[in-house]
This record gives sequence, C-alpha cells and structure tokens, in this order.
Amino acid sequence: MTPQDASQAAADICALAPVVPVLVVEKADTAEELAKALVAGGLPALEVTLRTPAALDVIREMAKVDGGVVGAGTLLTPKDVENAKAAGATFGVSPGATDKLLDACEANDLPLLPGIATSSEAMRLLERGYWVQKFFPAEANGGAAALKGIGGPIPQVKFCPTGGVSLKNAPDYLSLSNTLCVGGSWVAPKNLIDAGDWVGITAIAAEAAKLTR
Ligand code: 3PG
Repeated sequence: MTPQDASQAAADICALAPVVPVLVVEKADTAEELAKALVAGGLPALEVTLRTPAALDVIREMAKVDGGVVGAGTLLTPKDVENAKAAGATFGVSPGATDKLLDACEANDLPLLPGIATSSEAMRLLERGYWVQKFFPAEANGGAAALKGIGGPIPQVKFCPTGGVSLKNAPDYLSLSNTLCVGGSWVAPKNLIDAGDWVGITAIAAEAAKLTR
C-alpha cells in the first residue's frame, strides 16, 4: 500500500464520524458489547490501543461487530503491525512515526494514521506521501491554536488531533480547516466499561456524534 493510498483510507475513516473513540480495554469479554454501544451511538470507527494484554483479542471480538471499523492504536513496532493486521484491524494509529513502522504498515497493507507533534515531523511524513496525520498529544502541544498554526504553512496536511480532547474542546479543533475528526477516550470511560453500562456509553457516543465539523 502506498502512503497516498494509506492517507486516503485514513481520510475515509475520519469522515465516518467527528470522533474516533480511543479505547483501552482490559477484558476481551466486554469488547463486543462496547463496540456495539459505540456504533449504536453513531461512532463506527474504533481505535483499540495495544496497551492491555487483551488488546488483540479485543480487536478480534470488535471486528465481528456489524457497522464497526476497527483499528489498532499505539502501534510502535513492525511486530505490532503484524499482530494488529492478523487480529483483524483495518487501520492503524501511532503516537509518532519511524521508518521501520511506516515500512511495516506499507508492506502489510495496513493504512496508518501516523502521529506528529511538530511542523518538521508533519513535513517529513508529507515528503513520504502521508497527508493525513494525527496531532499528538494535541492539548499538551498547544491545542487547537497550535494545530491552526501548523495549517497556515502546511494546509495540505489534514489531521486527527488526539490527546486531551474532550466534548468541551472538540469544537475548537473541528472548526479548523485542517481537522478531519478528533480522537478521544472520553467516549468510553473506564468506570462505565467496568460497570457494563452500555446504555450510558451509547448516550455519550451519541452526544459526540452530534458534534459539527
Ligand atoms: C491516547 O493515546 O491515549 C489518546 O491520545 C487518547 O488520549 P485521551 O485519553 O486524552 O483522549
């Protein structure tokens, strides 16, 4: 897969909803219900972070849910890419980008949303052909004002800001011409997952899905 094709696929995924849930899931047996709850609320693109021992099983379970588009987040190594792909992930997300990681995603046909925090990183990825990138960690790096600033000289790169994004500040990002969608964990709070409160999660997702961009 070429970087251009990967970015087009990432743009298509970002177009599905204004928010991509960033999921940290401890137990695979909650995965299906969680995915169904988020999809029912209007958030079909799901990023399962590879930060728990269960994460690959969670991806396997979520990949079965109708209407869901399941990706793997926290991709750090080529092995992560292979594992994510084998588990059924249809896209990947990384906090930053290395040549090894980009090579692995391209070789494994896994569309990647690669992370950047500076203009130089955005330019380096753009040189390789990646025009859809994740701005991370968004709030700590200056928030919507910083992303707007990057968009001045580099308007052709489009972003999914993630990290510290909430229902409250999401509109600041979504109003920018270089923001396709935002990512955030607020739509799947740990306490609601632990309680199996799928109705509550659907309600939070529905509120997020109504954000305009
Ligand atoms: C992450 O990688 O943890 C994501 O950026 C989510 O960040 P958040 O928990 O601040 O939404």
